[in-house]
Amino acid sequence: MASASHPRRTRPPTGPQFAAHELMDWLGAAGEVLDQMLTPSTAMASKQMLRMSQGQGETSYALNSSFQNTQQNKMKPLIEAAIVDLCSSNKTSLPGTMLIADLGCSSGPNAVALVSIAIEAIQNHYLQFQQPPPEVCVLLNDLPDNDFNTVGKSLVALRQSNNKPVILTGIIPGSFYERLFTSGSLHLVCSSNSLHWLSKAPEDLTRNQIPAYDIDERVRRDRLPMVLEAYAKQFRKDFKLFLELRAKEFVQGGRMIVSLVGRSNVIATRFFYVSEIVAQILSVMVLEGVIDKAKYDSFYMPTYSPSSEELREIIEEEGSFKITDMRVDDPRTGAINTPSSFLNFLRAIFEPVLVQHFGDVMDEFVRTWERRWSLEGSVQEEHSRSHVAMLVISLALLQ
Ligand SMILES: C[S@@+](CC[C@H](N)C(=O)[O-])C[C@H]1O[C@@H](n2cnc3c(N)ncnc32)[C@H](O)[C@@H]1O
Repeated sequence: MASASHPRRTRPPTGPQFAAHELMDWLGAAGEVLDQMLTPSTAMASKQMLRMSQGQGETSYALNSSFQNTQQNKMKPLIEAAIVDLCSSNKTSLPGTMLIADLGCSSGPNAVALVSIAIEAIQNHYLQFQQPPPEVCVLLNDLPDNDFNTVGKSLVALRQSNNKPVILTGIIPGSFYERLFTSGSLHLVCSSNSLHWLSKAPEDLTRNQIPAYDIDERVRRDRLPMVLEAYAKQFRKDFKLFLELRAKEFVQGGRMIVSLVGRSNVIATRFFYVSEIVAQILSVMVLEGVIDKAKYDSFYMPTYSPSSEELREIIEEEGSFKITDMRVDDPRTGAINTPSSFLNFLRAIFEPVLVQHFGDVMDEFVRTWERRWSLEGSVQEEHSRSHVAMLVISLALLQ
């Protein structure tokens, strides 16, 4: 990193005498230049590759997302309260049309679960006051490689099951770390189980080629605080950008309800245990020569689990939104505890990312997982020791 006291060099330090910080500065600057040269294609590549397992097969996200659906249902009271607020508030002079969106919708039943809750709440609110409901435009977003064919069918079914209010639907492919909607157009945004996915692997690690999960246990332990700090920094940058972008897209008084995988302890001491399990299986595969160590070292799971304090701090620092409600929920009651359901849950989420990076390794991944399970038993114990928490936040755009 360049600092005020050591201006950034543009040429490598030469001569017999130069300070270590000069060399580090130059390496950092060279890395940034390289990053800028590579960014358009590598950023695009990471966006393209991220998706859940498609279709309706045994390991698809559509069939293996009941755990996430349990978390979605916990958002219901917050969505209902936001709708009442939006529909009765003078600030948003009763809308004749409403635009609602789900960001990171994936595919399968969960893709329309949150918008369905919102539509029902709109219907009930207007029925209560015996007024015609507004027309509602529902837009579902995910990255371009998402299974939008299945999403399209879910949207048609949603339209057909509701004739009041009038519902229009659309799909918005793209990253929620970019502008997605026109300025001042959105009334309500929902997002579940998605915002812990980063825009990319932490720059501080990729630039310096520092593995996130070193195969050597001692090195891994020693590096962990620095690695977690790099992840925290990337999350802070991404989440702040997300808030800035959405703030531009909301109408006055617009509302946003999001849930994401977080942690219950203030100081991060480990990764989300599910990512750790994936890394452990991969490290066994490296030791057995199934995957290349250099490939393993350059693999970064692009997720981070913040604490509620961290989230609050970022939201307050960014300054566009007021937190109207924040809940920290223990997701362990909805745990997935049979070997096959846990494996399918892992595959539904991580298989596309793993295949993209390591190639056709899933058969061996499954075999290694099965051996681990039979040797070490259920992952329940790890689950119960982990600090995983679901963070649910309701936000209102500040005037
Ligand atoms: C675990 S799924 C959650 C799906 C659904 N919302 C649910 O609760 O079951 C996470 C989704 O977020 C999407 N996602 C991750 N990063 C994204 C980004 N930058 N922009 C849009 N979608 C993203 C992934 O492609 C994936 O479909």
